[in-house]
Amino acid sequence: MENREKPIGVFDSGVGGLTVFRELMNELPKERLIYFGDTARVPYGSKSKETVTKYSRQIVHFLEEQDVKAIVIACNTASAMALDEIEKEIDIPLIGVVRPGAMAAVNATKVGRIGVIGTEATISSEIYSNFIHSIKEDAKVIGKSCPLFVPLVEEGLWEDPVTEEIARRYLTELIDTGIDSLILGCTHYPLIKRTIGRVMGDEVTLVNPAYETARECRHLLEEKGLLNPNSVKLSENAYTFYVSDEADKFRHFANSILPLGILGAKKIDIERY
Ligand code: DGL
Repeated sequence: MENREKPIGVFDSGVGGLTVFRELMNELPKERLIYFGDTARVPYGSKSKETVTKYSRQIVHFLEEQDVKAIVIACNTASAMALDEIEKEIDIPLIGVVRPGAMAAVNATKVGRIGVIGTEATISSEIYSNFIHSIKEDAKVIGKSCPLFVPLVEEGLWEDPVTEEIARRYLTELIDTGIDSLILGCTHYPLIKRTIGRVMGDEVTLVNPAYETARECRHLLEEKGLLNPNSVKLSENAYTFYVSDEADKFRHFANSILPLGILGAKKIDIERY
């Protein structure tokens, strides 16, 4: 198969990365996509850099075996902790969600005060803050981990008073800092964007790294001459899903996020890689 016709690999710690997958489907309708969700070992957000890097490396090896032309790390935590190291070990482009999200936030802020919400691992890595400062030295970046958002989203409580109450508890301190842009630095958060928006108010622009990543992925493939030249939009069987556990649960969640009905996901033993 010609390089340009090969699929793009996308991976996440579980189901959340489907928010990135959805944006990639939109932005790159002619590309084949392979998704891997590490449903057996989720969450990554409370694990060490060493563990997240080890897991990410195994998934990258699996995706390389599927002969992908590029890999998108849809997971914020894995982008924060593993991208730098793994990038040096492989020959194909590796795209994370942090840089595109940070750049969009810098473009969005007028007052130079940016909030970032994410898992404990992402926030304590300070990766968003470092990226933002490399573009805009004098920006003020305020991070806040919101660990309960992931289980709330996975329970389907996207529009629910409980989620709104938790959001108020987490986010009030951010409102008080006068930020005018807020990075949704976790795969799950775009699914509760409306709730977060209500709590933050209209003056705060919510930045969705998933959307920005899909755009960056298109630019990168274009630049490297790797865009699929086929002129027809692909059908649903251009998308393949793999998981490390509980394929049925994954399918159910995927069908609530993606604009197509997925029939199933293949379970693989990721520890082999
Ligand atoms: N996918 C993770 C992220 O974007 C959230 C879930 C987890 O903790 O693994 O950071």
